[in-house]
Amino acid sequence: MIIREAKDTDRAALERIARESFTGAYALFAVRGLRRAKPLLVAEEGGSLIGFLEGKAFRGRSSIGYVYFVAVDSRMRRRGIGRRLVGEALRRFEAGGATQVFAAVTRDNASSQALFAASGFREAPRGALWRLFRWRAFRVRLRMVLAPHEVLLVRTFTDPSPASAQGA
Ligand SMILES: CC(C)(COP(=O)(O)OP(=O)(O)OC[C@H]1O[C@@H](n2cnc3c(N)ncnc32)[C@H](O)[C@@H]1OP(=O)(O)O)[C@@H](O)C(=O)NCCC(=O)NCCS
Repeated sequence: MIIREAKDTDRAALERIARESFTGAYALFAVRGLRRAKPLLVAEEGGSLIGFLEGKAFRGRSSIGYVYFVAVDSRMRRRGIGRRLVGEALRRFEAGGATQVFAAVTRDNASSQALFAASGFREAPRGALWRLFRWRAFRVRLRMVLAPHEVLLVRTFTDPSPASAQGA
């Protein structure tokens, strides 16, 4: 399995995974986001696309990354693909100078909560973005509106990774 940046020709396969993975407005936003995300990472195995991650870097005095959507083909879950996608996004955000990476996850999405926890994310206060970015937060938050049933998660690069915390 490889993780790589998406190409235009991946679009139809990614839309299929997005539509089967999300419902309602989330499906709409996930499909729409395929055009704008950067990075847009895909997982590919044997020539088939089996997952994707939509991210975005916000640059400024402090730079942050944001993971908007991560989805894995329903037949391929629990094989470490989500973890690889998130890990690669974290690596790219950190290499690009980000100090923190945020994600918003619905409170009842156990698999997603567990994936982000396994990737070193922890719950952040809902005002964290505002405090970090002050006025710039208006711009940031326009693209990161948190619904009441969503939890804001953060991975800070100075935190030990789950692997190093376990002494691995
Ligand atoms: C969330 C999602 C992307 C996880 O992808 P995945 O490839 O199955 O995840 P991984 O196999 O890499 O799992 C990594 C870790 O996350 C946790 N995890 C993932 N799915 C889990 C589940 N259903 N229940 C409990 N823990 C889970 C585990 O800790 C797992 O590590 P382990 O298998 O060693 O125990 C996938 O379930 C999915 O596409 N869901 C629908 C879309 C969605 O809700 N996306 C998230 C919101 S943006």
